[in-house]
Amino acid sequence: AKGLEFKGKKILITSGPTQEAIDPVRFISNHSSGKMGAAIADSFADQGGEVHLILGVGAVKPENPSIKIYPVRSAEEMYQATSNLHKEMDICVFAAAVADYAPKHVASEKIKKEGDGMTIELVKNIDIAYTLGKNKAPSQIHVGFALETENEEFHAKTKLQKKNFDLIVLNSMRDAGAGFQLDTNKVRIFTEDGKSLESAVLPKDQIAQMILREIKNLPVKI
Ligand code: PMT
Repeated sequence: AKGLEFKGKKILITSGPTQEAIDPVRFISNHSSGKMGAAIADSFADQGGEVHLILGVGAVKPENPSIKIYPVRSAEEMYQATSNLHKEMDICVFAAAVADYAPKHVASEKIKKEGDGMTIELVKNIDIAYTLGKNKAPSQIHVGFALETENEEFHAKTKLQKKNFDLIVLNSMRDAGAGFQLDTNKVRIFTEDGKSLESAVLPKDQIAQMILREIKNLPVKI
């Protein structure tokens, strides 16, 4: 749907997976395709928003040519690109699946196969949404995602509070048609002021439009 609902608004979106290097040929990552983030980016741009998309490697690109894309690889790079833009933004949507841990040491040469086992020491990555959430201005809206496998509502509501989101979108790995890779999603939305809403299984562009509607309904003045 085309319109001007977000005309004059600056929107930052993180999307896709991050890759954490082990050595020059290997990495730790996850199954995010970037489809959900791309659908959200297109929905905002189609409503006149100025969209800045921080995009993990290999993630699906949006269609709207007005969207500015910033390619990144690791969680650290995603944080740098996101924090550079954060202050000027009206709305930030954290749709990326960011690796929580990265190898402590990145081997400079390909690791050789020696012995029957091996251990990679991991260290915690920066939490982008949490860190920027601490600097959220009263005029900014932060939207988070939660991908859960159990105790979904509890974990989503905990992340809503902890990361200072105005709204969180929960998708559960237990719901058929929801989550990574698929062209559809099924979500529950929780807002900071206590509202909740559940979707059917719908194409990701329709889920994106539902998220935009709920952002528009938030009490925050942007
Ligand atoms: O890309 P698709 O294949 O279309 O799949 C879409 C999706 C399932 C990846 C997406 O809908 C989704 O749920 N994204 C968030 C997945 C996730 O990693 O959630 P989380 O519970 O680990 O993180 C919670 C929130 O904090 C998220 O908004 C996340 O972007 C953010 N976060 C997490 C860790 C970190 N280091 N930095 C962050 O900003």
